[in-house]
Amino acid sequence: MQFQWYPGHMTKAKRQMQEDLKLIDLVIELVDARIPFSSRNPDIDELGKNKARLILMNKADLADPGKTEIWSNYFKSRGCFVVCIDARSKKGMKAIQNEIMEACREKIERDLRRGIKNRPVRAMVVGIPNVGKSTFINTYAGKACAKTGNKPGVTKGKQWIRLNKNVELLDTPGILWPKFEDQKVGLHLALIGSIKDEILNIDEMSLALIKLLMRDDPRAVAARYELEEETDAVEILKSVAKNRGCLKKGEELDYSKAAALIIDEFRSGKIGRFTLELPEDWELS
Ligand code: G4P
Repeated sequence: MQFQWYPGHMTKAKRQMQEDLKLIDLVIELVDARIPFSSRNPDIDELGKNKARLILMNKADLADPGKTEIWSNYFKSRGCFVVCIDARSKKGMKAIQNEIMEACREKIERDLRRGIKNRPVRAMVVGIPNVGKSTFINTYAGKACAKTGNKPGVTKGKQWIRLNKNVELLDTPGILWPKFEDQKVGLHLALIGSIKDEILNIDEMSLALIKLLMRDDPRAVAARYELEEETDAVEILKSVAKNRGCLKKGEELDYSKAAALIIDEFRSGKIGRFTLELPEDWELS
């Protein structure tokens, strides 16, 4: 399966982000907990290399909790602070404040040594489209939303949301584009819905998804789709079409309808909680 990705205004956005990064102390990077590697743009490691880093593993409600823990440990081993959240239901959000302060401890202590007290930490949210940046900012800053307005020395037009006396957030998130040469990364992005379905082959995608789901939790798949002994992806797709009444005109089975149904139910967590990848898949350590 070949994917194509059109990065649009990537260069301009990247330049803008470089400018914004100069203004902040902390990068808050959102990743999708179901694909923590594929949903990151590796450029952020370079762009944010002198900044404190907090990784939020969002949509943890949809991911396998054991694998979320493995990823969390992986990111921590790389010097990042990590919190697992479900920005939609606000789960896990309470831990963030403390992690922000921990991540910025060096900066706070440096300020104190220079006699600067109570200067808020400035943070910026970054991540690929659809990872939950707006949901997070709304949930996190919702009530706070007192914008501090422009400040001297800050690029005109930048708005800061004062979350509390310790933290200010740049109100516009930095949008990074997914980046991949590896087709597996492309597939995983497509499966969670980060690449437009119209440019993809739904049938092939669903077969790849079925294989991943069967690898990780065949019982959940069998229970959801009332399977008997089927283990082959094509056979499973056929059974789903049959059991869910996916029919074309006449009595012919509609595989594409069944494929779309499986993908949709995976995305909304109806089949179970799945994480499609582990650090070892890319020999990360
Ligand atoms: P973005 O700014 O990074 O592009 O992402 P955005 O916040 O728009 O979120 C993209 C989709 O992900 C939204 O769903 C949002 O509700 C959902 N979402 C965000 N955080 C979580 C989470 O922690 N768990 C789950 N399960 N979903 C989350 P949507 O279908 O596009 O919109 P809506 O139906 O919620 O209105």
